[in-house]
Amino acid sequence: MALDRGPAMPAVLHDERRRLEPDTLRTLLERDPERFTRDVQEVAGLRLDWTRQRLDGPAWERLTEAAAERGVAQAMERLFRGERVNTTEGRAALHTALRLPREAECRVDGEDVVPQVHAELDRMATFVQRVHDGTHVGYTGRPIRHVVNIGIGGSDLGPRMVCRALAPHARATREGAPLALHFVSNIDGAALSSVLREVDPETTLFIVASKTFGTLETLTNARAARAWLLRHAPDAGAVARHFVAVSTAHERVVEFGIDPENMFGFWDWVGGRYSVWSVIGMPVALQLGMDGFRAFLGGAHALDEHVRTTPLRDNAAVRMALVDWWNQNGLGAEARAVLPYDERLALWPAYLQQAEMESLGKCVRVDGEAVSEDTGAIVWGAVGTDGQHAFYQLLHQGTRLIPAEFVGVARPEHDLPAQHPLLLANLLAQAEALAVGRTETEVRAEMASEGQTPEAIEALARHRTFPGNRPSTVILLERLDPATLGALIALFEHKIYVLASLWGINAFDQWGVELGKQLAGQVMQAFDAADGDATARDPATRATLEWLRPRLPVARGD
Ligand code: F6P
Repeated sequence: MALDRGPAMPAVLHDERRRLEPDTLRTLLERDPERFTRDVQEVAGLRLDWTRQRLDGPAWERLTEAAAERGVAQAMERLFRGERVNTTEGRAALHTALRLPREAECRVDGEDVVPQVHAELDRMATFVQRVHDGTHVGYTGRPIRHVVNIGIGGSDLGPRMVCRALAPHARATREGAPLALHFVSNIDGAALSSVLREVDPETTLFIVASKTFGTLETLTNARAARAWLLRHAPDAGAVARHFVAVSTAHERVVEFGIDPENMFGFWDWVGGRYSVWSVIGMPVALQLGMDGFRAFLGGAHALDEHVRTTPLRDNAAVRMALVDWWNQNGLGAEARAVLPYDERLALWPAYLQQAEMESLGKCVRVDGEAVSEDTGAIVWGAVGTDGQHAFYQLLHQGTRLIPAEFVGVARPEHDLPAQHPLLLANLLAQAEALAVGRTETEVRAEMASEGQTPEAIEALARHRTFPGNRPSTVILLERLDPATLGALIALFEHKIYVLASLWGINAFDQWGVELGKQLAGQVMQAFDAADGDATARDPATRATLEWLRPRLPVARGD
């Protein structure tokens, strides 16, 4: 059975594609003025604009009907009700419960989880307060100034992205300045080493963030950080003041040597890439203060309520998912470019890469059968204006269809606001250029009006033509504050789940990362020429091992 890809196009997408074939975005934008009300939606501080998608009213209707037929509404109910939607791991996926208000109720196996969630948030609040007011001090009695989050994947990307995005909202501690936040994820010693050069052991708090507390990269870096601390501190008692753990794995945390008093917990029904709302968000809470963190949760909850209570046709997450489904499975796009026009959102593409590609990169359905359609898109991107001077050429004139997803913020938060209209003008210009393009006739007319010679026009007109008809979504935020960012992330989480429901796949497992982890352990053993058995490795790995062995003294323990 070939499981690699499922190229079939669902009938509804096939029919709509044929019907819309004669139209381009130019003609759709001209002949379908309703799109400017129908295809723009404001929710929880987000303005979602799908007017530059190659869809019209009837297509939206049919796609929505197809979503209903594929049971998206029922799938949504199962998610919010705490059913075990993560079938291969037998777990619920209740990131929505992490942002429920205190008075709400949500049951997993008959037990209301909301009190546990708020108890842990309250512990987190106490800790954040103690760090901020200088009650929690380092081994010499000095207050904490630096926070180093050691984690990877979902235990890194969420808090790292959010802390960067919300840096202007950072709260000063009693010392008069916000905490300096650092993130270490890579097992490459260069990452931790460069952070350790910047921080002072007396005033640094390490957060060891790992859902499983079994992740090689994180534990290796955490051990190295502890050894560094103990090289400076007078005794091992310092570890309790300088290390906290955020994890679901109580025993492993204790085994590592972190006092349970200094552990903040969450639950197996929180997926790693959906965990920024839990104590994994500790760096965010330390940066913003607990009020800011609760506002972040509140924004996500507002979006949850929209998604939970809104019929499919007006449901923002469903519409986001239908656009992706259409572009990928209907128009054949394999990738999506994620293009934030805001420095604060520089890590948004990396964050979405894990959220989407780890959730949707599946070739087997929940029922064990091979998928029949292509699933998760290749998500990539970078901040907008930098990208314009790097890879946009391919977006505009390349041979592939790569839908774009722009994100911009109406209000800047820096002291050069005069530049902001220029930034957003670029965003809009790019969306227009992709959609409308420039015909050869227009190029020729423009070149003629510039006084160019007929020879020059002949030589260049086709090179300067833009095919257009390249779809994009424009997401604008009123402002980039904790609540609005919470809503934005929650929107994408729900979109991912809707796509998974359309394809019949599990959005919450990640078996595809396991083989590499397992092999890394075996390769590591094989590095050792004396004891290592390389014969079990494939010939290509063996050959590379032979080359590397004499060059890797540290890995060989020399
Ligand atoms: O290897 C992938 C992964 O399992 C992600 O799903 C997860 O976010 C990351 O590793 C880190 O896992 P942990 O939080 O358990 O250290």
